[in-house]
Amino acid sequence: MDKQQELYAGKAKSVYTTDDPDRLILHFRDDTSAFDGERMESLERKGKVNNRFNAFIMEKLQEAGIPTHYERLLSDTECVVKKLDMLPVECVIRNIAAGGLVKRLGVEEGSDLAPPTFELFLKNDALHDPMVNEALAETFGWATAEQLAEMKSLTYRVNDVLKQLFAAGDLLLVDYKLEFGLFHGGIVLGDEFSPDGCRLWDANTREKLDKDRFRQGLGGVIEAYEEVGKRIGVDFS
Ligand code: ADP
Ligand code: CDP
Repeated sequence: MDKQQELYAGKAKSVYTTDDPDRLILHFRDDTSAFDGERMESLERKGKVNNRFNAFIMEKLQEAGIPTHYERLLSDTECVVKKLDMLPVECVIRNIAAGGLVKRLGVEEGSDLAPPTFELFLKNDALHDPMVNEALAETFGWATAEQLAEMKSLTYRVNDVLKQLFAAGDLLLVDYKLEFGLFHGGIVLGDEFSPDGCRLWDANTREKLDKDRFRQGLGGVIEAYEEVGKRIGVDFS
């Protein structure tokens, strides 16, 4: 597959066109960012770790019948995906209270959320990804009612698959963010699933093993990503 021009350079990944108009190459860089890009750092091995982690998870989701954009690994830091028309909303499910929910509602960090919550955010760094809802998304044309219902249902199905997968590695899937897009009109899971976009805690000690290590300056960021990957069977060799 021929890598052509850079279509977009995001905060952590670069996206390239290919000789196939329906396929893109995602390049996972070592860059990491927090607080809408306010803090940026380069962390050794991050690109490779997230590329492998994401490939493993996307394959598991695909096996469970969830349509994803992922096709194959191309190199240590690149994979081939279907080219999607991304919908500008982020879907978040929370199983345990942390992060934004704790700040916004004053709930105690670590409280179980039953049933898990579902939230929508507008993907817009300049506005700091504000929380929105289905009615706003419909009114402003970010997604149709049908697309929203499908994204919500798929996001919950991902929760069923991944909660179990992480539990087998003695990990709690606290919360996560998914992005979807359209491929020939159908809703498909895009972007990535890695410890950059979810919270994972050790089930026994509740130690944070995700991007909160970077956000909170705890150190050992990539070592934690590797630890969770190893526990669920990701091959980092
Ligand atoms: P950000 O844009 O938030 O800085 P990244 O650095 O991860 O994030 O950049 C990757 C970009 O590629 C994101 O904007 C994401 O929405 C987009 N993207 C992910 N998967 C696809 C896909 N299959 N087709 C088109 N765009 C995609
Ligand atoms: O962590 P923060 O306060 O920014 O936001 P949150 O609403 O608590 O985030 C919920 C989950 O979505 C966490 O796992 C975040 O890592 C993830 N998320 C993300 O990956 N990208 C965003 N732009 C927002 C949230």
